[in-house]
Amino acid sequence: MSVSPSLSGSAPTSASAVSASAAPTQADLLDFVRRTAADAELIASLPLDPEGRTWVRLDGPGGSEAWLIGWPPGTGTGWHDHADSVGAFLTAVGELKENSLAARLPTDGWKNLELSEDVDRERRLSAGQGRSFGRHHVHEVLNESPDRHAISVHAYYPPLPQIRRYSRTGPILRLEQVERPEDWQ
Ligand SMILES: [Fe+2]
Repeated sequence: MSVSPSLSGSAPTSASAVSASAAPTQADLLDFVRRTAADAELIASLPLDPEGRTWVRLDGPGGSEAWLIGWPPGTGTGWHDHADSVGAFLTAVGELKENSLAARLPTDGWKNLELSEDVDRERRLSAGQGRSFGRHHVHEVLNESPDRHAISVHAYYPPLPQIRRYSRTGPILRLEQVERPEDWQ
């Protein structure tokens, strides 16, 4: 019986050495949020507050930033982006709605931007459904249920250096605030 050369070596190949230290991809993050959302004990451990969202920080894969978030009925994030981070999120309980922009926005140097007519996207993510997103993704996430809490799992890589917050009036997106990690403490 012969042994394939690729299986016979004891030293790690350069390819495996690279993959062991590689940054988590969107697919890795989506896999993480899917597995985490399936952990019923963890999901049940999140404190829920009818007055506002609740958060628990998690250890994401490969040094990513991860969160378990509880959404009372009628709450949402407002429009924001995640700067240069990629990310993924998945609904564990209830249903979330995501409004997003299918457009790559200039990162800096503007305060008001008029969006073209065809950039709005909308998706509903019920329990077990999620999505990943690339750099500069702009969205808002909402729990539109009148009576049901939602719980979701989120992961970002690199850990969020900043979030830009926007207001939206029709087609006009206006930069309102840049939040840095020290603002979230
Ligand atoms: Fe977000």
